[in-house]
Amino acid sequence: MKIDELQRVAEYIVSAQKGILAADESNPTIRKRFDSIAVESTEENRRRYREILFTTDGIERYISGVILYDETLRQSASDGTPFAKLLWDRGIMPGIKVDKGSKALALHPGNKVTEGLDGLRDQLAEYKQLGAKFAKWRAVMEINEYDVPSPYAIRANAHALARYAALCQEAGIVPIVEPEILMDGAHDMERCENVTSRMLESVFDELDAHGVLIEGALLKPNMVIPGMKCPHQASPEQIAEATLRCLRRHVPAALPGIVFLSGGQSAEDATQNLNAMNAMNVVNAMGEHPWQLSFSYGRALQAPVLATWKGQEHNVAAAQRTFFKRCQLNGLAREGIYSRVMENS
Ligand code: 13P
Repeated sequence: MKIDELQRVAEYIVSAQKGILAADESNPTIRKRFDSIAVESTEENRRRYREILFTTDGIERYISGVILYDETLRQSASDGTPFAKLLWDRGIMPGIKVDKGSKALALHPGNKVTEGLDGLRDQLAEYKQLGAKFAKWRAVMEINEYDVPSPYAIRANAHALARYAALCQEAGIVPIVEPEILMDGAHDMERCENVTSRMLESVFDELDAHGVLIEGALLKPNMVIPGMKCPHQASPEQIAEATLRCLRRHVPAALPGIVFLSGGQSAEDATQNLNAMNAMNVVNAMGEHPWQLSFSYGRALQAPVLATWKGQEHNVAAAQRTFFKRCQLNGLAREGIYSRVMENS
């Protein structure tokens, strides 16, 4: 394992002002996104859409990595340049989603476990050849008001994340470890903090047991946030405080960076909440955060772009302006210097 190389890539991904574009929607997921703007999900339409994102002028100032889906990693821009090369030439690291989605966990009603470990060693070797520098595996857990996720579902998902991370590092690929506690549901913020804490505790326990090098990995967690149907919503400062408390308790300082998912927050909320956390870096009595706090947003970067593009060629320039703006605003939030009035400029 080339330890220095893993650490260098992980640190590059969370360098100043920069974060990740998650453009790794599986075909069923991108179909849902395209349905919302009445665009047919053909292979060519998916390629055209990803080309709009990847060729937007200036995004390399704010985007250090893009997570791709298997099909996209094998596709090329209209001029024949493979997407992985196009991104790399712009200083953007190509990454790859390697999990195969979540399935019901046997004997644990309501709980899920992510699959995809079988054959992963060979798959990673191929992705490395195709230019992937980092990978992503998403464990996803719902909260209900009783006992979901169960302690065993947490353990099973943490174990799979650690096995994936170890295989990535063996292959010389930086693992992004993504334990996501969903914001669907009516649970309050305290319950989210509690479940997120249990999950993070288990994840770092398993990473340690598998011998994963923490300096050569990144964490992609949810923010600590009330469920979408909870009657008591929280301010960005409350979300930032609870999230930071939870992370400080459970995430080793040796980890180079934390790249949040947006999880269904609006584009503006995701930017504002990230900003609140980084703004606290200056005023927090506990001192500076030990890790970089950045973004790895899917919907929060892309929803406004899709709404502008609508599959129409004449909307491409406007869609790219919209995308650049979201990248820029999140780049500022990553430094704690974003302000909501910038949304209207
Ligand atoms: P969202 O930001 O839309 O949650 O997507 C991030 C992601 O990659 C989920 O796995």
